[in-house]
Amino acid sequence: MSEQKHIFHHSFSIKKNDREELHGHKSYILWFTGLSGSGKSTIANLVEKKLHEMGISTYILDGDNLREGINQDLGFSSEDRKENLRRIGEIAKLFVDGGIVTLATFISPYASDREKVRKKVRQGEFIEIYVKCSLEECENRDPKGLYKKARQGEISNFTGVSAPYEEPENPEIIIETNQKSVGECVQQIINYLKHNGYLG
Ligand code: PPS
Repeated sequence: MSEQKHIFHHSFSIKKNDREELHGHKSYILWFTGLSGSGKSTIANLVEKKLHEMGISTYILDGDNLREGINQDLGFSSEDRKENLRRIGEIAKLFVDGGIVTLATFISPYASDREKVRKKVRQGEFIEIYVKCSLEECENRDPKGLYKKARQGEISNFTGVSAPYEEPENPEIIIETNQKSVGECVQQIINYLKHNGYLG
């Protein structure tokens, strides 16, 4: 028997537009997706620093960090990753409603999970950034030693090794971290934001 939920949505006086006006800029999600070791967190960190210097209110939601707290009950099966991204999507939506430019750094390997987050916010508020880097290069970098463990069978469901990564088909931005310098990748994102009216 399905339980009836007595839930009523409250509409408060201060709206997203009011917060955006107060902050002097729009709010939106910069969604970084890519393999482990591709450079998501490194690039997002530097983009956030640049935006912060410009007086923009920002926050980073990061996979490892959120898995320490709100998502500590989740693993890496496709179902758990789906739930991970559903929760992150809801959190990111709240941040956007709060007038914050939200940088989200998650492997987010399934296209359908990323699309669900895109659909939670308005058109133009979800900017998908594919942090593109070959598996070979990510594995060479192996900053956390996870690929080695995955190859030795110590970690199961490891993206790129024993679990899939679905490349974005139409991301707003592609940064190729094994072809360009970190500085160039950061500038590419800032240029996109400038030319598409996201910084005013
Ligand atoms: S996902 O797929 O979006 O739900 O993953 P995410 O929340 O971004 O978490 C990825 C980080 O978890 C660590 N880790 C793993 N990644 C992939 N596969 C497996 N099995 C795994 N186990 C642990 C790893 O540190 C990932 O961080 P990044 O920054 O991507 O390297």
